[in-house]
Amino acid sequence: MVDARFLKAYKYLIWTTLALIALGGGVRAMDAGLACPDWPLCFGAIIPDYHPQVYAEFLHRALAGLVAIATVSLNWFLIRSPKVSKGLKALCWFSLVLLMAQVVMGGLTVLLQLQAKIVTTHLALGTGFLATLLWIYFSVRPQGSTQERQTFAPSQGLKIMSLVALAAVYGQILLGGLVASNYAAHVCPSFPLCHGQWVPTLQGAIGLQVIHRLGAYTLTLIILALLVWVWRELRDKEDPLSREFKAWSRWLLVALLVQMGIGIANVLLFTPPLITVLHLTFGAVLLGLALRMVYMSWVTAQRECLAAVRVPPSEKPQFADSFPQSSPAKGSL
Ligand code: HEM
Repeated sequence: MVDARFLKAYKYLIWTTLALIALGGGVRAMDAGLACPDWPLCFGAIIPDYHPQVYAEFLHRALAGLVAIATVSLNWFLIRSPKVSKGLKALCWFSLVLLMAQVVMGGLTVLLQLQAKIVTTHLALGTGFLATLLWIYFSVRPQGSTQERQTFAPSQGLKIMSLVALAAVYGQILLGGLVASNYAAHVCPSFPLCHGQWVPTLQGAIGLQVIHRLGAYTLTLIILALLVWVWRELRDKEDPLSREFKAWSRWLLVALLVQMGIGIANVLLFTPPLITVLHLTFGAVLLGLALRMVYMSWVTAQRECLAAVRVPPSEKPQFADSFPQSSPAKGSL
């Protein structure tokens, strides 16, 4: 297991990456994406002269540099550690690949003058990168005793529902990226109807906005279904991991409701920068929450922490899935 200082550093890296994504939204909202016309320098200088838009873009690059250095250092530590499993090392490498791709995409975003596909790919890679950091962090932090993990036994259905919710959140983020990068935010200035109809068209900019709205409704249904499932399956379970899982599901609902409110405000108030940044940030928060639920149901409940020293097979917890009938009764911890 890694030490507490490493965990703290990784946590800071994750928060800084979230701030970087938010700042990226700020750069777009301020129309500052091309404020530094060259790359990697800005007006041929490492530190450009002060101008609000130039500095927003410059700070985004500087923070990206900080995130890159921290990611390489911390992941390199894990890659070199003999206690870390091969799977986790592969994920560390993957996050480094995403980081490199993200640096190149950031450059292309500027050099190709904010092409919609590039901007959306930049968002997809950025949020994907955040997800890999979170997964690595979940894997190296303490995960409860073997007994706790044995007691927490989500059904196959619940595991699949968590995965569906995660995929739906990510899909919705990508749709949002398309709306933003195609300047489709203002084409339906009302809510819930768009030009007096629920679905005036699925084509062009209006179509993108409508599909993003339909995506939000679908995501809401999926998350509500997940919550009902969690409630029905775990309502009587009071072991620490079931309680934590239930708490994350409640936070997921809260974050979704806030995100819906921010999304609607984005439309009705004509995308003020602060609301746009919040909308992007809460999209990333939703992704993190859904990912935590997937991690808990697929990994925590199944086996030892990936980074932990491997345990001999005889000491490994029995997989709940292999013995679906044998879940402990209420209050067994
Ligand atoms: C509920 C889940 C939702 C998620 C996860 C989500 C996510 C996102 C993301 C990630 C973006 C891109 C932001 C950027 O690149 O700066 C976006 C853009 C946008 N979303 Fe959503 N969204 C959701 C719901 C909604 C709803 C309900 C509405 C309103 C009807 C809405 C309206 C918009 C608009 C107008 C934009 C474009 C903003 C701009 O151009 O700056 N979203 N969304």
